[in-house]
Amino acid sequence: MAERILVTSALPYANGPIHIGHMVEYVQTDIYVRFLRSCGKDVVYFCADDTHGTPIEINAAKQGISPEEFVARFYEAHKADFQDFGISVDYFHSTNSPENKHYAELIYGKLKEHGDIERREIEQTYCEVDKRFLPDRFIKGTCPNCKAPDQYGDACEKCGKAYTPTDLIEPRCSLCGTPPVRRSSTHLFFKLSRHEDFLRELLRRPGFLNPGLATQLQTFFEKGLADWDISRDGPYFGFQIPGETDKYFYVWLDAPIGYIATTEKWAKETGKAKSALDYWAEDSDARIIHFIGKDIVYFHALFWPAVLKVAGLKRPESVKAHGHLTVNGEKMSKSRGTLIPARSYLEHLDPSYLRYFYAAVLGSGVEDLDLSLKDFRLRVNGELVNNVGNLANRSLSMLAGAVLQKRLAPPSDGPGRALVEAALARVSEVREAYEKLEYRQAIRVITEISQSANSFLQQQAPWAKIKTDPEAARADLSDAAEVAYLLGALLSPVIPRVSEKLFAQLDAPPLTFEALAIAQYPLLDRGRTVGTPEPLLPRLEEARVDAILGQPVPEAPKAKEEKKAKGEKKAKEGAAAEPEPPSEIEYADFAKVVLKVGKVLQVERVPKADKLLKLTVDVGEEQPRTICAGIAEAYQPEQVQGRKVVVVANLKPRMLRGIESRGMLLAAGPGGKELSLVDPGDLPPGAEVK
Ligand code: 2FM
Ligand code: ZN
Repeated sequence: MAERILVTSALPYANGPIHIGHMVEYVQTDIYVRFLRSCGKDVVYFCADDTHGTPIEINAAKQGISPEEFVARFYEAHKADFQDFGISVDYFHSTNSPENKHYAELIYGKLKEHGDIERREIEQTYCEVDKRFLPDRFIKGTCPNCKAPDQYGDACEKCGKAYTPTDLIEPRCSLCGTPPVRRSSTHLFFKLSRHEDFLRELLRRPGFLNPGLATQLQTFFEKGLADWDISRDGPYFGFQIPGETDKYFYVWLDAPIGYIATTEKWAKETGKAKSALDYWAEDSDARIIHFIGKDIVYFHALFWPAVLKVAGLKRPESVKAHGHLTVNGEKMSKSRGTLIPARSYLEHLDPSYLRYFYAAVLGSGVEDLDLSLKDFRLRVNGELVNNVGNLANRSLSMLAGAVLQKRLAPPSDGPGRALVEAALARVSEVREAYEKLEYRQAIRVITEISQSANSFLQQQAPWAKIKTDPEAARADLSDAAEVAYLLGALLSPVIPRVSEKLFAQLDAPPLTFEALAIAQYPLLDRGRTVGTPEPLLPRLEEARVDAILGQPVPEAPKAKEEKKAKGEKKAKEGAAAEPEPPSEIEYADFAKVVLKVGKVLQVERVPKADKLLKLTVDVGEEQPRTICAGIAEAYQPEQVQGRKVVVVANLKPRMLRGIESRGMLLAAGPGGKELSLVDPGDLPPGAEVK
């Protein structure tokens, strides 16, 4: 049986939108998963919303809704963000689910059964007004170290010192502002200290964790591993602990159990496994790989494996931690507008750009990565649009042109073949880079391959040969198209939608890493034709990139004055100024416009409207259409009568001066008297203009 791999990303809290910082992890995981799938591996990828805990309970109360309703709202939004960013989870679930309750209770039962749960009386900070224990984040006061006011109960944001809430000077409840008191309560502890030997050995296991992080975790052993408090008193949003009164599992106990619950839900819904235990039973052959941010390494590399061991479940083979995202060299911040929700990004830009950039800067280490918006634009334009996109577009456009008629050449034996074979020889470098999570190295090799094919075209100049020796040009372009095909495969884990577009334009089946393992020249079926080329991705403009920071998109300087004048004019006429269209559109947008040849049958002036002419136009339909055109200053009615024109035929009808106008004529020129109707020549009414 093929080896099975289960991959997870850390579960986002259902307490706010997914932002581009989260996306680093989901993109990193998704690239890995897509790469494994392309290699033919049996891999499943799970994530879910992390729904429990005090902040969610309090935020829901502030909004006057139940926590269930609160988390349900984020669930839909998070799922859509995953989907629209192309994060290919096999299932996105929730920790507030019956499956999670079941496994949380089951695992807790095992911990108890093995004597790993201990009751202890502890003293905590309590607000007598709100009648609740206060987590550290809900206590504020003056830092005992640097005396900075308004600091949280766990650490000072000013001087960085970590402390406990009792150390704060003049502490107060952040909800109601009153000074809290100390109160004791019974808590349940997981005896982590009993598992020190197991954990020490685990951290030494090659490939389990980044070695630097493993060394950092050693300090916990030196201090002596503290047992872990897994219970919280009500009010709390979470699962009630069986056999206890008003006690709940701490959110971090049931959060990672969400990985198992999601497996269970997926198994039930798809029937692809009997239960989660197909993967998570101790004797299962599945390999479990967690992707996480470095800040939550204790949970995943210490608590979680120890809990799984006691519960008799499968431990992760590897915990892959990454660094955090900075934007323009600084920590993301709401006030600077750099804490960019994924949805805001998507409103302005194609996710492929960000996926590409993250891949281009991600290595396997835990250092932070920077989204410098300037580098983002330069790298995307320089590498993806101008290098890879250009190679694909120029080779395909020439192949699909009037001379070569989309036909590929038979395999060659010259420099074109050498080019493709040299590119194929580098596939293993890309493969290894993906395997090791050295995505930036994969991207480096990919851009070099693309560069070599562009240089080849530069040397061979098929655009010159096409006039004198079209078959030689066909051979060069077919070999360049081979490289584009290969690049589509190599980039498919990173920008799958762009790769799909490229495969469609080549009219070739998706090329996988599995196929590439035994592939030889030629990769394309040379007896076939290619499809229709179109640019893969438009260039990233500075204004569009700035727009993701919430800044308005400035217009091109020249257009600005014109727009102002137009806007004022429109305002005078009482019509609202229309929003400016984006300066570049997708081909698909253009393709929505139906342009047809029309013949003007009749023309009349429109009373009290000096600019409008009312036309009756034959556009090859049963009935001629009425179209009102703003050309009366440039044309006398008799100059238009009998003329052929180009009509936008699928424009929604509009009422103009009480006349329903069904279409628009194309004309060039600044307007007013200087307008020239576009002439379609001798084509008959109804002919399509493309
Ligand atoms: O740090 C966080 O955002 C947590 N919600 C991650 C949970 S990961 C796992 F344990 F569920
Ligand atoms: Zn209070």
